[in-house]
Order: sequence, then C-alpha cells, then structure tokens
Amino acid sequence: MILLQRIKALAALYAPQFIDIRRHLHAHPELSYQEYETSAFVQRQLTDMGIPFSVMAETGVVGIIEGVNPSARVVALRADMDALPIEEANDIPYKSTRPGIMHACGHDVHTSCLLGAAKILTETRKEWTGTVKLIFQPGEEKNPGGASLMIRDGVLENPRPSAIFGLHVHPQLPVGKVSFRGGMVMASADELYITVRGKGGHAAAPHSTVDTLLVASHIVVALQQVTSRQRDPFQPSVLSITSIQGGHTTNVIPAEVKMMGTFRAMNEEWRFKAHTLIRRLVEGVTHGMGAEVDLHIDVGYPTVYNNETLDVRARALAVDYMGAGQVEETELRMGAEDFGYYSQKIPGCFYRLGVMNAAAGIVSGVHTPTFNIDERAIETGIGLMALFGSTA
Ligand code: NI
Repeated sequence: MILLQRIKALAALYAPQFIDIRRHLHAHPELSYQEYETSAFVQRQLTDMGIPFSVMAETGVVGIIEGVNPSARVVALRADMDALPIEEANDIPYKSTRPGIMHACGHDVHTSCLLGAAKILTETRKEWTGTVKLIFQPGEEKNPGGASLMIRDGVLENPRPSAIFGLHVHPQLPVGKVSFRGGMVMASADELYITVRGKGGHAAAPHSTVDTLLVASHIVVALQQVTSRQRDPFQPSVLSITSIQGGHTTNVIPAEVKMMGTFRAMNEEWRFKAHTLIRRLVEGVTHGMGAEVDLHIDVGYPTVYNNETLDVRARALAVDYMGAGQVEETELRMGAEDFGYYSQKIPGCFYRLGVMNAAAGIVSGVHTPTFNIDERAIETGIGLMALFGSTA
C-alpha cells in the first residue's frame, strides 16, 4: 500500500504536466501510420526520462523500464497514437491545428497517460519488481491495425510480457470512474465487398437482362438470415450492408452493382463459420438468379478478449486505488479495437477511463467533431496505469 500511496501522490503532482502534453498532442494530430511527429515527441519524452526505447513498425515506440529483479515479471502497457480524418468543431485553445484531422478518439489522452505512467514508474523503479514494457503503437484506426505490425516486429518478445494493459477513454462514463469487463469485451470487424455482375439492358425488357439490382436486393435481405437464423441466439453478432451502388437512370438495368458492409462477432469460431455461410448464401442467391458475383471478405481486427484472472486482479487494484464506488462494469460493444491482436497472444486487460462531465457539457461520443474530455481523467489515467505496471 505504500507504493500505491506514492503513485497516487505522484499522479496528482504530475497531472498538470501531462495535461499540457495531451493538449500539445491534441493540437498536432496525425493520421494512422503517419504518426512521425508524435513518435518523435514520444521518443524525446522517453529520452528526457532516461528510458531506453526502440522503434518498430515505422512509427511505433517501445520503452523499457526495469524495476528490482527485472526478469521476475514482465508487464506491457499499451497506448495508440493516431488521429482521425475529422474536422474539429470544438472551440478550445488547443484545437487541432491541422485541417481535417482530429484526435476524436482520445488517442492523445492514451499516449499522455502512458507517458505519465512511465514517469511515475521510472521514479519508483526501486519500489517494484520486474520490467515494464511501454508500447506506443501506430494505426489503431485503420486496417491492418498497428498492433498487428508491432507484433510482427516482435513487440511481444525479448522479453515476453505475461500480461498487457490498455485503456480507452469512455465518453459515457463520468470522469473519476473506470470500468472493466472479463471475457469478451469488443467485437471482431470484417469488411464485406460484393460485386454482382449480370447483363444490363432496357428496363422495359427485363427478360433480356440479368437484373443485378434485384439480385443485390435479395442478397441484402438474405444476408440477414446469417445473423437471425444461423447464429446462436446467445452469440452477439451484427451484419450490416452499408452501401449499394448501381445504375444511374430510370430506364436502364445496370450490368454491375457494388455493395459494402461490415460483419461483427464476439467469438472467433462463429466469426469464421459465418464467413463460410455468408459466401454460400451470396453465391447461392446470385447463381440462382443467373448472375455472377465476387465476394471479398477483408478480415479485420479480432475480438477483444479480457483474461478473467487478470480482470479480477485489475479490478481489485482499481478498487484499492479509487474506491469501489468508482469502479464499474463495462458494457459489451460491437465496436472493434486492434488491442484484440495482443489479447490473442498474451493475457490482456482492456479497460475504460471515464472522461464525461455532463454539467460542463462534455458528453460527445468518440469519432465526432465535438469529442472532448474532462482533463481531470488524466490524473486517474496515469496513476492507475502506473499501478498496473508496477503491481498487477
Ligand atoms: Ni480509439
């Protein structure tokens, strides 16, 4: 408990510094896989703290902090660094200086929290055991996912962590709170690209065509069977067709229609079984109607699975740190996160940091032009992350 009190005091002491850092990052957002300035900034910060690091996946940064008996345990802490192609609509002094780019998913907060945790962990390194690996990754918002590139480049080896923690801002959770969930927590996300090819012609003579728009319409309806009839009712899953494009006038049946959509699941086995069912159905409907089809399923992020044992341990530490009243259960979400790549390889705990302040009007969701946080969340964010790094 002595270390916990130390961490708490240091989090309070350093919070203003890391709020400034968050504001700097917020004002200078960079898109996925282009986080060169952010990466250089993180490297400078680590250098100033005396933390050795390496660079991988082009802009990713991996720092190492050794405590007492470094090989006794290895824990990884992860932050993402990329921003979104959104024009910021907030009127704030640290508004994005880059037109059309905004930290609208809080990755500026995640990076600042991890830097803050690094400072505390460095300062307390004689008071905890093991090694902490700091992972600053690129490209969380865009396939293939920066996490997959970091893993490819060896981030989970030499030394191999026995656990990984990552946090995400939660705009529906009040500032001062955090939330956890064991087991499945977020969905896999795969993209569907369907091209139907038939025979175009005069709309008044449909018998001389193969009507691609009618085929496409049947596909849209039929695909709902996958999630309504073929899915186990206790297995959350979503299939949405989000784009259908074909034709340009009233009296011509187009020869080709293109569709796009997303398929999400909470279970890897069902996920890949569903791919087979989707393919069978799309091809069956199309061929039954005399058309041809190309179906491309772009396999995206895996499900995020929180290790149950780690979840219990993390919650207990959070309760010690913040009090039971501040620790909640995270709801299931069909959103996706490339943290899933890490949690497939080693036990992971992906938790939520409350950033909402309804009284101050800070309520906008992530990926909106008015997203912002109550910056008091940073003190909680850096302290709890340091506690997990040193103690979990
Ligand atoms: Ni995000």
